[in-house]
Amino acid sequence: MSPKTLITGQILSFDRSPFDAGNPADSARLHEALLIEAGRIIGLGTTADLRAQAPRATQTDMGDRLIIAGFVDAHVHYPQTAIIASWGKRLIDWLNTYTFPEEMRLCDPAYATRIANRYLDLARANGTTTCVSYCTIHPSSVTAFFEAAQARGLRAVAGKTCMDRNAPEGLRDTAQSAYDDSKTLLERWHGVDRLSYAITPRFSPTSTPAQLDALGALWAEHPDCLMQTHLAEQTDEVAWVKSLYPEARDYLDTYESHGLLGARGLYGHAIHLTARERDRLHEVGAALIHCPTSNSFIGSGLFDLAARVAEGQRIGLATDTGGGSSFSMLRTMAAAYEIGQLTGTPLHPAQLLWLATAGSAGALHMGHLIGNIAPGQEADLIALDLASTPAIAQRHARAEDIWEALFPTIMMGDDRAIAGVWVAGKAI
Ligand code: GUN
Ligand code: ZN
Repeated sequence: MSPKTLITGQILSFDRSPFDAGNPADSARLHEALLIEAGRIIGLGTTADLRAQAPRATQTDMGDRLIIAGFVDAHVHYPQTAIIASWGKRLIDWLNTYTFPEEMRLCDPAYATRIANRYLDLARANGTTTCVSYCTIHPSSVTAFFEAAQARGLRAVAGKTCMDRNAPEGLRDTAQSAYDDSKTLLERWHGVDRLSYAITPRFSPTSTPAQLDALGALWAEHPDCLMQTHLAEQTDEVAWVKSLYPEARDYLDTYESHGLLGARGLYGHAIHLTARERDRLHEVGAALIHCPTSNSFIGSGLFDLAARVAEGQRIGLATDTGGGSSFSMLRTMAAAYEIGQLTGTPLHPAQLLWLATAGSAGALHMGHLIGNIAPGQEADLIALDLASTPAIAQRHARAEDIWEALFPTIMMGDDRAIAGVWVAGKAI
């Protein structure tokens, strides 16, 4: 028998999605204690019951801290860590001015390793225990990321970014090399420890139809992999896609007609969609990844979350570091709330928290493993200090229930609110 750990505090678990009918406040419950064995949660309930179940468990008391599942960031670009918060450009200019020159630097494996470690340290400080990252076109940038994630025991998803046109010399592969390199990396890393591979065409403008075809074929050969890309982020980009793919019915069709539309597809941004695209995404059960700080920072537009939820779309939440302006999923939830206000729907704190945990985990088809606190789930947890700054503390003091207690931390909190992190049951 392996040693057990008993954690006590205010432990919050979801019974259902707070977007389902009924009062969002009723979707979750508070518990006194949880029990961990071999990296998994094996019990949830009262301290007395769990203590009786595991008399010799070591106990960690988190007092009035709120213990929740670790955040799941469903779309990041770790190679953009060092250029986050770069001024004044919209998507295509931002890519050419800041992103591509920086991604070029990751051809140096030592630099890629430094940035991967820096990114994962920042993510962890912000309570993110799983992320889905783009790498660069360099296979060594994928190795750097997976090695850094593996050393930390993280559940993580990543893939080699593929681009064979409309990118500078030095950042282009080919249809064949994208297929070959992605396949080699996939075979090396997919399913190793807690790591999985995502086939990663950057977006239609930087791939030829031949490259999209090759990656569609690879996905068909490895249907249990995720596939990540960008979709309909800015109107200029949508127009560019139309000129590059004159035969396509719409942006989504550039993926669909090359075998790159499916339930395990993660479509970043997905703001400016046509009715056909929305219907197809829903029909196949693909995931739309909402990147609210990025969408305002790069000036992309307002993702209508309430409308997409009403359609029944699968939705995840993400920082989109470094097009997004923060590493923090708290800040990302705040931005989602603000964009909800601008589109006519104030999101409930339960809905924001669910998107950052169980919602994103569901987008990755990993809802049975991560994103909630329940027996059988992997013990990736964080403890939130709900009074982490004077401004938050004075508002928290007036709170009348747990959601009102949490909301100031969602809106004003940052890494100072992260009072503890556990990865697979180990306190970090
Ligand atoms: N579209 C294609 N590449 C990118 C990227 O790196 N960031 C964002 N936000 N959008 C993209
Ligand atoms: Zn992105």
